[in-house]
Amino acid sequence: MTEQDFIPKTYTNAIENGSFTWASPSNIALVKYWGKKEHQIPENPSISFTLNNCKTTTTVSFSKKDDSNAFSFDVFLDGEKKDDFKPKIETFFKRVAVYLPFLKNYHFKIETSNTFPHSSGIASSASGMSALALCLMSIEKELIEPDGISSTVEESHFIKKASFLARLGSGSACRSLEGDLVVWGMHDGIKGSSDLYGVKYPFEVHQNFKNYQDTILLVDKGEKQVSSTVGHNLMFGHPFAQERFKQANKNLSDMVSILKDGDLDAFIALVESEALTLHAMMMTSMPYFILMKPNTLHIINKIWAFRQQTNSKVCFTLDAGANVHVLYPEQEATSVLEFIENELVAYCQNGQYICDVIGLGANKL
Ligand code: PMV
Repeated sequence: MTEQDFIPKTYTNAIENGSFTWASPSNIALVKYWGKKEHQIPENPSISFTLNNCKTTTTVSFSKKDDSNAFSFDVFLDGEKKDDFKPKIETFFKRVAVYLPFLKNYHFKIETSNTFPHSSGIASSASGMSALALCLMSIEKELIEPDGISSTVEESHFIKKASFLARLGSGSACRSLEGDLVVWGMHDGIKGSSDLYGVKYPFEVHQNFKNYQDTILLVDKGEKQVSSTVGHNLMFGHPFAQERFKQANKNLSDMVSILKDGDLDAFIALVESEALTLHAMMMTSMPYFILMKPNTLHIINKIWAFRQQTNSKVCFTLDAGANVHVLYPEQEATSVLEFIENELVAYCQNGQYICDVIGLGANKL
């Protein structure tokens, strides 16, 4: 498929107004996306667990306006008008306008809320952009299908295009529509994979990874020190960039066998190495950044010690920030939570953490 395939032919239905609501989850990458080309095309393929509890719920209400000169919308977070969110959405609208030609014909009221605390350091861009993309796709579906019951817009196209649009809002958002594992980026060994949208992981996954747990330790709840845009740009001309992109491709190939065989030790090694490599890229770019905090390192060391003492299969991964995602199999849920309570909570800001588990993706409300 190419970008052209996402430009709709005609809208046959005239609608004056309406409203759609979608809830969409966050996701956590196991093989990381870091570095992009133009138009949010990733430099390397990535794979993520879709989360279940960290979600954004968005309602988009729309009403026809007289002109079609410019975008017109208002944004609300938890019922409060958020004009500071508008530039990001305006940019998103500009990027997707060619694929959603109705955008200038309506005024939109975008109401959004997150299940996780605001400014918790958990990025809401993946869940937020995917929820918004899904609402816009529901509007487009209605414009194409007069009776709302015909199936001109097939389910698979709907999800693909929503993922394609979400990607243009925030790259990793394209992995937030389906569960429970999603691949984004062309990879020779993964049929159907694409740089343009995320696809559900198509191969066998061992029972060991069912209901995998992710407890997010909130080490630093402040604003991100480095925005993703700045971060991705640091990979331009980075001395280790090409090797890193090759490594991510190989790691994804290795991950396919790990997921099939249920090899938890190999999973731990790959996932932790990916997290540290992401941070190593930031430490070795120009300008350079250290996004971990002292408590991030305390937690990592505690996890390593716990693993040695107990033979647990707990491990960590990191986003582009200081918070730690603690990953572990479902059957260790009780013992690892006890370990977190006893030994790791002390390193969290205000003792805060969020328990999550891999989930099935977005749903229409
Ligand atoms: O989607 P962005 O542009 O915010 O980039 C996210 C990049 C990481 O979260 C660090 C890694 C990933 O693959 O999600």
